[in-house]
Amino acid sequence: EWTPEAFVDMTVEDLKKQIGNDKVVLGLSGGVDSTVAAVLLNKAIGDNLYCIFVNNGLLRKNEFESVLHQYKDMGLNVKGVDSSARFLDALQGISDPEEKRKTIGRVFIEVFDDEAHLLTDVKFLAQGTIYPDVIESISVNGPSATIKSHHNVGGLPDFMKLKVVEPLRMLFKDEVRRVGAEMGIDPELLGRHPFPGPGLAIRILGDITAEKVRILQEVDHVFIQGLKDWKLYDKVWQAGAILLPVSSVGVMGDERTYEKVVALRAVESTDGMTADWVNLPYDFLQKTSNTIINRVKGVNRVVYDISSKPPATIEWE
Ligand code: XMP
Repeated sequence: EWTPEAFVDMTVEDLKKQIGNDKVVLGLSGGVDSTVAAVLLNKAIGDNLYCIFVNNGLLRKNEFESVLHQYKDMGLNVKGVDSSARFLDALQGISDPEEKRKTIGRVFIEVFDDEAHLLTDVKFLAQGTIYPDVIESISVNGPSATIKSHHNVGGLPDFMKLKVVEPLRMLFKDEVRRVGAEMGIDPELLGRHPFPGPGLAIRILGDITAEKVRILQEVDHVFIQGLKDWKLYDKVWQAGAILLPVSSVGVMGDERTYEKVVALRAVESTDGMTADWVNLPYDFLQKTSNTIINRVKGVNRVVYDISSKPPATIEWE
């Protein structure tokens, strides 16, 4: 029978044997998978694990600072690299979803490679790849049509001659969470909703600007904080806001407004392959909508996405 305790013991032993005294580099994303992978490796090889946490400028509000702080508190050997400007610059004028993913993937690899080159004698690249990523990556790259290119799978560029270590590649998400809990990782971190690697870029329909990122961060923050305050966060598998490339007419005092529309999305799922929209309480939606419109400059309308996957996907891009 599979237990998190046995998995941790066995994996730590295996990692020690496989890696020895060599150095390993790992990209932390703030998500559950890379964090659990990092803590496992840290248990096995300590400070020979070099973690790099890149801010692509497309994370949730305050996320980079707070999660970096949390990583340091956990004793991880981590370096925070703020490359927001570089990502925004590269994304300028790009509206196509796959083009966004490719650009973000490319810049991430560039930044990561720059950082990895600052370290000497690194032999391994560790990744938080889990089983569904492996499967989806096979189906995406296989003979069938490309669905979405998950940029965090598919290995490393040739010029980084590193061996890959993926301690979680046989695990499902719930198992990853149990492994994390076994190692004493903060339950709040382990309970975090999944968040896509390309971040808010694929929730801003159309081209991306710093102002749009700011608006979406504020909206998302109100929504997610509200879910937590109303004790709904843990009942939802994933939630977020989408900034639509649409303006609508509204009224504020005696002024006519012409501002952006945002969609809220919350889904129930087990693995992200299929999903149902969540029947959030009307009182909550009403309160959240009012708060967003009152507080976030540039938004005058909120809608709720009631589409299931399939045929819709969880993300809008
Ligand atoms: P979709 O939109 O395909 O999303 O229903 C399923 C799950 O995958 C996440 N997702 C991504 N994660 N890179 C990622 O790391 C991506 O390009 C990407 N696209 C979607 C999405 O947030 C959901 O959890």
